[in-house]
Amino acid sequence: MKKMISPSLMCGRIANYPHTLDVFAKTGIEYLHVDVMDGDFVPNLQFGTDTVRQLRGMSNIPLDIHLMIERPEDKLAWFDIQPGEYVSVHAESTKHLQKCLAMIRERGGKPMAAINPATPFLMLENVLGDLDGILVMTVNPGFAGQKLIPATLEKVRELRVYLDARGYTETDIEVDGNVSFENARLLADAGANIFVAGTSSVYKRDLRLEDAIAQMRKSIE
Ligand code: DX5
Ligand code: ZN
Repeated sequence: MKKMISPSLMCGRIANYPHTLDVFAKTGIEYLHVDVMDGDFVPNLQFGTDTVRQLRGMSNIPLDIHLMIERPEDKLAWFDIQPGEYVSVHAESTKHLQKCLAMIRERGGKPMAAINPATPFLMLENVLGDLDGILVMTVNPGFAGQKLIPATLEKVRELRVYLDARGYTETDIEVDGNVSFENARLLADAGANIFVAGTSSVYKRDLRLEDAIAQMRKSIE
């Protein structure tokens, strides 16, 4: 499957966005990872609806909107989802996961189900036909700069086998949290194909953005 990079915008400096987004466009970045946090589902606040709308006007790269919010079914309509955008909702954040995924599809988005480190992917068994991707959190969501939880590596490996065995060979597996150059290699070998790049890779302080992106590409190919 195509390996893709989705840099986490929350890890970048807003003042640098024009330059950062220009480099992302020039280096063929496939998605922009937008962490939306409500301070309830996760202990942090990030990116409201107006900011998401403004981001669309700053780049042609499709958004990869990671909703870390309670009751997403009540709020999906606020985001003006555009065709081709990935929108992920956490299986733990709603009683109506299938309805959320269908709502995203109806709006032209690509539905994705996100699962926290402790959540078995079997929780998604009955919605595999309703989604285009699965987001496996490799840290507990909320903050950048954390360390990958080792058990999530095996979880990605088992999920890829599980999906392929059921014919879902085109379902993307995205990984999010401490996806360093080294971890990206391990996660790619385990079967992940979309990599949320944050403080431990693309935004590493000691690297030029272009060089960090090139190194990330090398890590995942
Ligand atoms: C964490 C966020 C991640 C985070 C990644 O909840 O969802 O997208 O920004 O940042 P690093 O790579 O620093 O873990
Ligand atoms: Zn995220």
